[in-house]
Amino acid sequence: MDLAGKHIVLGLSGGIACYKSAELARQLIQAGATVQVVMTEAAERFITPVTMQALTGRTVVTSQWDAREPNHMPHINLSREADALLIAPASADFMAKLAQGRADEVLSLLCLARPAERVPLFVAPAMNREMWAHPATQRNAAQLRADGAVLLGPDAGDQACGEVGDGRMLEPEALVEELVAQLQPRPLAGCRLLVTAGPTFEPLDPVRGLTNRSSGKMGFAVARAAREAGAEVTLVAGPVALPTPRGVRRIDVETALQMHEAVMAAVPGQHVFVATAAVADWRPVRAAEHKMKKDGSGRPPAIEMAENPDILADVAKRPNAPYCVGFAAESHDLLAHATAKRERKGVPLIVANLGPATFGRDDNTLLLVDAHGHRELPTAGKLDLARELVREIARQLSQTT
Ligand code: C5P
Repeated sequence: MDLAGKHIVLGLSGGIACYKSAELARQLIQAGATVQVVMTEAAERFITPVTMQALTGRTVVTSQWDAREPNHMPHINLSREADALLIAPASADFMAKLAQGRADEVLSLLCLARPAERVPLFVAPAMNREMWAHPATQRNAAQLRADGAVLLGPDAGDQACGEVGDGRMLEPEALVEELVAQLQPRPLAGCRLLVTAGPTFEPLDPVRGLTNRSSGKMGFAVARAAREAGAEVTLVAGPVALPTPRGVRRIDVETALQMHEAVMAAVPGQHVFVATAAVADWRPVRAAEHKMKKDGSGRPPAIEMAENPDILADVAKRPNAPYCVGFAAESHDLLAHATAKRERKGVPLIVANLGPATFGRDDNTLLLVDAHGHRELPTAGKLDLARELVREIARQLSQTT
């Protein structure tokens, strides 16, 4: 329930993407928000207020002359009640109106009337690619940003008109993810954070290799939570099947050596390094060129192994090292092992968990161990835990600077 307690005014202007706004309203509600829909006359040509009312359980507002509001000021009431205004879809015409500060119907009127310091305005453009690329629209988009609106998208891809290019409205899931991110506190604003995630894969031959059972979920959750908290996030990921969190720069690698190289290249200028990756301790010294076959002798092949570099320890040793956070997946004696690991790796914070209990799951229990002691984060979803960890990192950073 990432939007629990939030009241969102969802404004629809006229465009074919209105059909996606029904799904968007549903997903906002599933995320815990209450949703008040406001539609322009053009939007009503594409989708009916009946649909939006049924989905949100609230009468849709379509006119500033609606006599049901006792004070007859829907634009004031709606904009004061809201935690955020989201215009999705925002047509080229509606963006032009916003940029000019016009207010001749209820949606643009309430956008103009919003208390800007308290109620953010999110605009999700949706239009043909030529309309989006037109200098007038680009001028309006720049003006809206300068006036404090946050533009979400547009996306590139197939368009209703049959053309392909920039101008599609972001998908409902992406808009909800953005809104959740934008409405979080931002204690890491101005920070750069680097995170490793997933397993590594050390090839033995073209079809086999050594790997481990890390799903990458915790590291991806840390990346998402850090970005929500305002950080600029780089995610170095081993082979995992997870979508990239929005707004995160992702570098895919396969082996420990590649992960080491990618991290060392990215680390200058980072304020925080979080190592969640389950890096293979050893790798075959050389991968066979062809698939290894049984030779009939009954003897398995001898595989010469070499130790992989410790990425976390190498980052922590650097001059001007970022604030380093290590993970420890243990099978028993969490606190003792985590305390020892913290000292061995030379890092200020270790996050310990019971490995076999969490592999591939969506929830986890964490133990934070630093120089002053330890604190348990009780069982919760990985994203919630990641947010709590990010808050802890922000607290530690604010004490050291
Ligand atoms: O030594 P161990 O693998 O138990 O330590 C776990 C922590 O060290 C994790 O944060 C992991 O991401 C990091 N690590 C690393 N490079 C390695 C091994 C572990 O960054 N080669």
